[in-house]
Amino acid sequence: MPLQLFDAMGREGFEEVVALHDGASGARALIAVHDSQVGPAFGGIRRWTYEAESGALLDALRLSRAMSRKCALLHLPAGGGKVVLLDGEGLDLEAAYRSIGRAVERMAGRFYTGPDVNTGAQELSWVHAETRYVTDPGPEGPGELSACTAEGVFLGMEAALLSLDGEVDWGRRTVVVQGLGAVGFLLAARLVGAGARVIASEADPQRVHDLADQLDVEMVDPGSELTQPCDLFAPCAMGGILHDLTIERLRCRIVAGAANNQLSRSHHGEQLHERGVLFVPDFALNTGALVRGAMFHLEGRREPVPVVGARVRSCVEDILARALSEGRPTSVVGVQLADERLAARRA
Ligand code: NAI
Repeated sequence: MPLQLFDAMGREGFEEVVALHDGASGARALIAVHDSQVGPAFGGIRRWTYEAESGALLDALRLSRAMSRKCALLHLPAGGGKVVLLDGEGLDLEAAYRSIGRAVERMAGRFYTGPDVNTGAQELSWVHAETRYVTDPGPEGPGELSACTAEGVFLGMEAALLSLDGEVDWGRRTVVVQGLGAVGFLLAARLVGAGARVIASEADPQRVHDLADQLDVEMVDPGSELTQPCDLFAPCAMGGILHDLTIERLRCRIVAGAANNQLSRSHHGEQLHERGVLFVPDFALNTGALVRGAMFHLEGRREPVPVVGARVRSCVEDILARALSEGRPTSVVGVQLADERLAARRA
């Protein structure tokens, strides 16, 4: 662990970092709670192979702070947290996830956890066996999480089109969707239903084969989607997709997708702005599942998908309006707005 842990926590206002070690399963995990002042902290479990423990710690801090920003932007009575489970040989997955579940249960409702990279329905069911403070992947849970994310992205796209052109008019729009996974597939279907022309790429050949008859989209090879002329490019696969090499090749007017952390480095948001591409910040646009999950846990109701989508759109509108009036990059304005809302609720 870097010695600067307490400095970092103090500087960014973190509340707590729990280091979990379970000899029987081999589990080594960090639970970071950035903020639980206005309500419980929410954040999924990321399982990843880290070269050094410091990388895992940085990830836990960075990701939990990002969750606080998302909650503040969406005016959710909740804050940010995250679990990072260090992957490695000999890890007994079920026992490891169950030990995380017991640790979350001990936090007695200050922190709720859920899905993230390498943590899906199977892993959540192991956690759920130990704690109620987790997204239940079964019929008793919040459900429709990917649908909520896709709807938020779709309505956020409409807000972006309105802000650029003063109209949506899907019938004359072309959208490129990168990745037809849980969110990308639903988003593509929604766009086709609205009358847009959709071009898509998908890295998994089996998935391409399975989806062939289900979607009226034009498939292109992964990699070539970046250079397709289009109105909107929707990254719905992995993060870090926007960097020096890819930004030069883009032939879209708007980037709006579900993938987390699309900007490889923060200055790439400014680079997009300079190139005249409107970037809809992912940390605002992909919050549909968070809204649905948090409202389910906090108020015990499943907020309807269109209502969730409208909340996301309203947040996107706030960012776009301010960025436009100040002539500044949306990526910068989005972070600033989130930090202002976070500071206001902590005051
Ligand atoms: P997923 O794993 O179901 O789908 C991702 C798809 O992208 C897969 O089908 C994969 O084969 C494909 N893919 C990977 N690399 C690719 C490439 N280079 N080119 C084309 N296709 C590629 O994930 P899901 O749930 O659809 O999420 C998509 C993104 O949105 C992820 O980055 C995720 O972190 C983010 N996200 C998802 C949320 C949700 O509600 N599922 C919520 C917030 C963010």
